[in-house]
Amino acid sequence: MLEVRCLLRSVRFCSSAPFPRHKPSAKLSVRDALGAQNTSGERIKVQAFPIKYKERHPLEYLRQYPHFRCRTNVLGSILRIRSEATAAIHSFFKDSGFVHIHTPIITSNDSEGAGELFQLEPSGKLKVPEENFFNVPAFLTVSGQLHLEVMSGAFTQVFTFGPTFRAENSQSRRHLAEFYMVEAEISFVNSLQDLMQVIEELFKATAMMVLSNCPEDVELCHKFIAPGQKDRLEHMLKNNFLIISYTEAVEILKQASQNFTFTPEWGVNLQTEHEKYLVKHCGNIPVFIINYPLAIKPFYMRDNEDGPQHTVAAVDLLVPGVGELFGGGLREERYHFLEERLARSGLTEVYQWYLDLRRFGSVPHGGFGMGFERYLQCILGVDNIKDVIPFPRFPHSCLL
Ligand code: 4AD
Ligand code: MG
Repeated sequence: MLEVRCLLRSVRFCSSAPFPRHKPSAKLSVRDALGAQNTSGERIKVQAFPIKYKERHPLEYLRQYPHFRCRTNVLGSILRIRSEATAAIHSFFKDSGFVHIHTPIITSNDSEGAGELFQLEPSGKLKVPEENFFNVPAFLTVSGQLHLEVMSGAFTQVFTFGPTFRAENSQSRRHLAEFYMVEAEISFVNSLQDLMQVIEELFKATAMMVLSNCPEDVELCHKFIAPGQKDRLEHMLKNNFLIISYTEAVEILKQASQNFTFTPEWGVNLQTEHEKYLVKHCGNIPVFIINYPLAIKPFYMRDNEDGPQHTVAAVDLLVPGVGELFGGGLREERYHFLEERLARSGLTEVYQWYLDLRRFGSVPHGGFGMGFERYLQCILGVDNIKDVIPFPRFPHSCLL
């Protein structure tokens, strides 16, 4: 038992970056501990432990060992910060009078209307093969928004914080197939300004709480993973976030001296390279982009009724190092507007219940979603999203 404890302790101190707070009182090499004898007293050959004591391994290397990397100081710090940030987000919403809702993970709706769904089926054979287990096709959730909208009609301010799934075929450093999303929905908001205020407060309050509750872990991340990140974070926290319209953003991009792979054009989604340029252009302060073209946003976004350009009250927050961190907007609470939008998309039948929310009494409301891993990347300066979640899932990889 003592041996096992010693072994665990020595393994825990195998470090990708030495951290002075936890100096072991005695050193024991993993090799010695594992170089054991079998029951007949013969020495047995052991496989070397893949993480070396006092060696700073690249995060990419550690990614191959999801079952061991949590024992390194650097992943230990990141995951403790993740835990602290989770608690900070819950405190923020609790202190602001929000009700926490467990939105379902299995759902029959695709709230974005944009595909990217994982469909759910039992692994065993059904008695009647053509029948669905739930009678209807079911999916893993891509967003809890529509369920939160139901709840905001009863509790005014609600939030959810849970696993979210997208079958995006992306290997990028900011996409996962399973990620955690923080979503809020608020009744009686009349303008994007109200939403942006909550977003900025949530971003800053969470960061402040993390900084004050685990300063050593943050310092280790900033020092060993992202030198200079301490100042970059301070810069974000002490400045007011900026606001520009989508139309202004496209103008800025068109006037840029930089050559983009995707030519910026009104009516087309902003690409990562555009987001990066805009954040830089804004002095590396997070920037809200508001009022997007109706044609590129989902059916529930509130119509701005603004003439030929025709935009909706949508908002994204772009942040340094990551790009889009939050997405949200005002919801279309007017029955006839929504009815027409659903009809145009051929979704009227599926979303009868959503129309009912308007038919039987609705109020102006809005909300947003924040990718939790992207938030951690942004405050810690971690380049790859796969390093801020214990067990990353992405195309062609589902280890453990
Ligand atoms: O912008 P998105 O798609 O917005 C929604 O899902 C809304 N229904 C949310 C709402 O209004 N309640 O996603 C929100 C955020 C993005 O801004 C991004 O930070 C993150 O979720 N996100 C991802 N993070 C990691 N991996 C992915 N594949 C992600 N897709 C979105
Ligand atoms: Mg989005």
